[in-house]
Amino acid sequence: MARSSDDVLARIDREKSTYLEELKEYIRIPSISTDPAYAPEVRRCAEFVRDRMLEAGLENVRIEPTAGHPLVYGDWLRAPGKPTVLFYGHYDVQPADPRELWRHDPFEPTIEGDLLFARGATDDKGQSYTHLKAVAAMLAERGSLPVNVRFLIEGEEEAGGSAIEKFVREKGGEQLPCDVVVVSDSSMYAPGQPSLLYGLKGLCYMELRVTGPNRDLHSGTFGGAVANPGNALAAIIASLRDPATGRILIDGFYADVLPLESWEREEFGRLPFDEAAYKAGLGIDDVCGEAGYTTLERSWARPTCDVNGLFGGYQGAGAKTVLPSWAGAKVSMRLVPNQTPERIAALFERHVAGLHLPGVKVEVSYLHGAEPVLIDTSGPLVEAALQAMEEVWGKRPVRVREGGSIPIVATFSQVLGAPVALIGFGLTDDNLHSPNEKFNVSHFYNGIRTIARLLDLAGEPAPAGGGA
Ligand code: BES
Ligand code: MN
Ligand code: MN
Repeated sequence: MARSSDDVLARIDREKSTYLEELKEYIRIPSISTDPAYAPEVRRCAEFVRDRMLEAGLENVRIEPTAGHPLVYGDWLRAPGKPTVLFYGHYDVQPADPRELWRHDPFEPTIEGDLLFARGATDDKGQSYTHLKAVAAMLAERGSLPVNVRFLIEGEEEAGGSAIEKFVREKGGEQLPCDVVVVSDSSMYAPGQPSLLYGLKGLCYMELRVTGPNRDLHSGTFGGAVANPGNALAAIIASLRDPATGRILIDGFYADVLPLESWEREEFGRLPFDEAAYKAGLGIDDVCGEAGYTTLERSWARPTCDVNGLFGGYQGAGAKTVLPSWAGAKVSMRLVPNQTPERIAALFERHVAGLHLPGVKVEVSYLHGAEPVLIDTSGPLVEAALQAMEEVWGKRPVRVREGGSIPIVATFSQVLGAPVALIGFGLTDDNLHSPNEKFNVSHFYNGIRTIARLLDLAGEPAPAGGGA
C-alpha cells in the first residue's frame, strides 16, 4: 500500500512562507568561499546550517573542521531496515562581482513576482535548502521519517576546495554509508519540466603566465625587436583550437573521450530546443562550437577549452604605448568521460612546451580539476525520485546531461557505491555565477514537496517482481 504524503504536503503548504523567510536569512550571509576575507562569514554560514539541522530534529549534528572551510553533517538513523538517503549540497557561494550589474544588493534577497534574486538563490542555498525543509516538515508532522537520512553540506564547492574529497575518501565508507545520494545543484531542462541529470563534465583549470623583458618597455623604441608577451600569449591561445572545425588541437586531447551513444543523440534531439530563443536570450547572433554536433551535444557531452580570464598590459583609460613585460591567462577545459584532469593537464603542458616562442618564458600551472561523471540511474531509489518528480510537477522527467561540474559527485559514486540522483530545481536562465542570480519561489516550494514525496516512496518496500 502506497503511503499518502498528504499530511506532510499540507504542512509544507501551511509553513512555506516561514521556509522562505529562513532561506532569505541563509542567503543574507555572504559565504564567498574563494575570498579569504569572507572566511568568518563562511564560518557563520556553517553555523546557520548546523542550527537549522538541529531545529529540524537531526542528530549527530556537527561542524566538521577541515583544512579549508568546514563541512556540516547531521543525520537521522532511526528507521532500521530502511534505506538511507544522503543529501549533499553546498552552502558557499560565488563572489557577487561585478556588483554594479546587480539590480539589487546581491546579499539582500529581493522578491519580484515568483523570482527571488540574490547570490546563492539557486546555487546552491535555495536548491539544497529544499532537502532540509522537507525533512524538517516530516519530522515535525510525524516525529519520524520513513527512511534514514544523512546530510553533508560543504563550504568550498565554488572554490575548487578539496576538503570534502578528503573527508569522503578517508571516512565516507564508515561514516556515510547510504543507498542513494540526492543532489539538487543543477537545472531542470525547461520551466515545469522535471529532469534527471545523469552526466556532469569534469574540469581541468590551468593558468598561463608569459614573461618577456624585465620591465614594461616603450613600444616604439622596443616594439618589433623584442618579443611581446601579449602577442605570445595570443599565439598560445590561438594554437589551442581550430577555428574552422572548433576541434581542440592539443595532441591526444580526444583520446579518452567516450563518444555520445546513439540513444543519447536521439533523446537530446527529441528535447524541444529553440536555437533562435537561445541566441536571443544571450544577445548573440550565432552559436559556435565543434563541427558535427548540436548545441546541446556540445554543451553537455563534448570537451571544451576556453579562456576564463586574460590579463596583462595597460588596462587603464586611453592609450598607453607600452610593451608589457608579462601577460597571463586562465584557461579551463571541461572534460567528459573518460578524460581525467591529470592526463589533460599533462597534455596541455606538453602542447605549450612544444610551441616555438622565442624571447619569452612560459609558465603553466594547474589550478584545480574535477572528474567527469556518467551515472548509472537504475535502481528503486532513483525510481522513487523519478516518481516523486512526476507526481509533484505533473510531467514525466526527462534525462539530461550538463556542462557544469560538481566535483564530489564522482567521488560519491566511487567511494559509496550508491547511485547519485541529480535532481535540480533551478532553471538555465537562473544566472548562476552571474549578476542577478535568481530562483523561482514556486520551484523552492515544489522542490520541498518533491523531496518529501521522495522520502515516502523510498520508504516503501520495492514492488515484488522488479516493479511495473
Ligand atoms: N551548481 C554548479 C554546477 C552546475 C551548474 C551543474 C550548472 C549543473 C548545471 C556548481 O556550483 C559549480 O558552479 N561548479 C563549478 C565547479 C568548479 C568550481 C570545480 C563549475 O562547474 O564551474
Ligand atoms: Mn552549485
Ligand atoms: Mn556554482
